[in-house]
Amino acid sequence: MSTLDETIRSLSRESLPRHVAIIMDGNGRWARHRGLPRSAGHYKGVDSVRVITEMASDIGLEYLSLYAFSTENWSRPQEEVDTLMHLIGMAIENETPALLRNNVRLKLVGDIEGLPAEARERLERSSRRLEGNTGLTLALCLNYSSRWELSRAARRIARDAAEGRLDPEAVDSGEIERRLSTFPMPDPDLLIRTGGELRISNFMLWQAAYTEFCFTPTLWPDFDKLSFAQALLQYRGRERRFGKTSEQVKRQDTKTSI
Ligand code: FPP
Repeated sequence: MSTLDETIRSLSRESLPRHVAIIMDGNGRWARHRGLPRSAGHYKGVDSVRVITEMASDIGLEYLSLYAFSTENWSRPQEEVDTLMHLIGMAIENETPALLRNNVRLKLVGDIEGLPAEARERLERSSRRLEGNTGLTLALCLNYSSRWELSRAARRIARDAAEGRLDPEAVDSGEIERRLSTFPMPDPDLLIRTGGELRISNFMLWQAAYTEFCFTPTLWPDFDKLSFAQALLQYRGRERRFGKTSEQVKRQDTKTSI
């Protein structure tokens, strides 16, 4: 049996996270190392998106969120922005039959209204075609950033309060969560960032309050099934305390396992 098969087999369903979020970084460097234009890295990055989504679906993850375009990415050279928008719309449209077969649902997270019409229409069409599916939810985060999302939630709360639908004293974390773009998905259990940088770049700042982090130097186009399995194994080895002591968590685990 190959190392990959062995690693995947050792991941039991109980030890899997429900929700994995990924900051896909390193496409540009992957291309530069090969003397290719940056767009070649983005094209190759789509292959990794396909492979990782397939594996997430096969092993039974419930949610996979991919940071595909941030609100800050508009400041890249126009040619690169155009390539990314075209590529993302086209890739999702081309993959829709396979996503249908694999029972994958598509959730669009971010300011989708702000995308160019061609990309938006392709993405929304695919999302409608996949909405009856019940397996993995693939959340594509596009024109997304946490500060955008939290500002929008604050505007919505202010409007609801001003118009008498919400008592300001009743604003709690649940009221904020209901107004986030990721709602009603659960918070990510594991956040992976490829490409070697050690930051979260305005991604799921609210949702990542208790998320486990895995930073890997592997560039996104090189991130394969084995890299994904290794990140899931790392997650399995973590103790999640949610503010409690290690002893409390262990007592809780003993109780739930009897
Ligand atoms: C970051 O690498 C990557 C992006 C900003 C784009 C990610 C998009 C894809 C992988 C295509 C997504 C396709 C679908 C279908 C969701 P970078 O360009 O910042 O790399 P660098 O840090 O090496 O320059």
